[in-house]
Amino acid sequence: MTGTDLPVLRTDVPGPASQAAVDILARHECPAVTARRTRRAEALGVVSDDPIVWQSAVGANVQDVDGNQLVDLTSGFGVALVGHRHPSVVRAANQQARKLVHAMGDAWPDLSRVLLLQRLARIAPGDLEVSLLGLSGSDAIDAAIKTAVLATGQTGVITFERSYHGLALGVLGLQGYKSAFTAPFVDITHGQVTHLPWGCDPSVVAQAMAGVGLGLAEPIQGRGGMHTAPDGWLAQIAAVARAHGALFGLDEIQTGMGRTGEWFAGPSDGVVPDLMCVGKALAGGYPLSVCIGTPEVMSAWGTSTGEALHTQTFLGHPVGCAAALASIDVIENGGMAQINKTAIALQRSIQASGRVFRGRGLMGAVTTQGDVLALSRALLRRGWLVLPAGIDSLSLTPPMCLTQEQINGFINALDAAEAEQ
Ligand SMILES: Cc1ncc(COP(=O)(O)O)c(C=O)c1O
Repeated sequence: MTGTDLPVLRTDVPGPASQAAVDILARHECPAVTARRTRRAEALGVVSDDPIVWQSAVGANVQDVDGNQLVDLTSGFGVALVGHRHPSVVRAANQQARKLVHAMGDAWPDLSRVLLLQRLARIAPGDLEVSLLGLSGSDAIDAAIKTAVLATGQTGVITFERSYHGLALGVLGLQGYKSAFTAPFVDITHGQVTHLPWGCDPSVVAQAMAGVGLGLAEPIQGRGGMHTAPDGWLAQIAAVARAHGALFGLDEIQTGMGRTGEWFAGPSDGVVPDLMCVGKALAGGYPLSVCIGTPEVMSAWGTSTGEALHTQTFLGHPVGCAAALASIDVIENGGMAQINKTAIALQRSIQASGRVFRGRGLMGAVTTQGDVLALSRALLRRGWLVLPAGIDSLSLTPPMCLTQEQINGFINALDAAEAEQ
């Protein structure tokens, strides 16, 4: 498996080894996590295929425990933008692990964190240069909400229908993607969140600003279906938020770190936010996230006098920070050009196949005919890993090393899967 290979299937997908492993998961993992085919679900009309169980991955290829080789058009939820197991990222992480795996967050930092925060300040737009690290996207959004409360004294948040900002309790109330995610917990989620229509008139935002400290948007709604913002709209709503004394935050957890062909998507939409959240591709596969703000906004936290007001055990994990530095090097030294080249090839090929590509760079979706869940399963059976995006399309967030041959192979597989519907 080289990372640029086409699918090679040795068994049906999922194969027997995957199914045996999933049987064990079914006994020992919370049943809400891994969807699988069960008689009870089938009786309820909810039919799920068993998943494949991953064994290894490199570049754009994944191998499962049955020895099937697949092509990953998701980058593992958008994480492996530079490719799975990029050699520079693995080398940096290994070198760091040989020296120091864990330091002490807010008490005693290590050098990899120092260098990473300095580097992030250089690539972030405008005067976004003061960071608060986390491990997940939810952590970064959580930090943005707390920062906005401290900086403005207002606890309300405005987000948008179809938005997705993570599922941890502090941020759960912000998502407008699926009400079922929030419904059981609604009494204990953030109580002052207003969800406005995506692309609404800025006057609608202005009318909803009472008590709001943070207006938050994804530059491209990812999980909600790869919807770009109308031209100039993000800048307009940022201006409205600021005029009402609130901060404007961009959730660049999925769009950031080069995914759209630029370090961050906000500036080409004409906006530099007060707070920017980044995660997913940040550390080339290691769990790391960050909320970056202006010095003025971040000063609202005050100065630590010993016990940090916001921290966690693994804050600034050395291996993640070293991997992030290596991933930034990769993108700076030819990676961004490769992202743009692959994006053009992907978009042109999708369009040449008579389909519509929605999105920007390597953050997009292809509109399809038929049931998108059934289509994604049919593609999995052929060795292509894709996720549905909204109700009418499949999400395409591949690694930058995806080849033209793989793109052509995917389009042929999509033709076949659609014909089968
Ligand atoms: C735009 C956006 N924000 C936040 C999150 C949540 O990130 P995590 O799952 O790492 O908490 C996601 C995850 O898909 C995302 O796409």
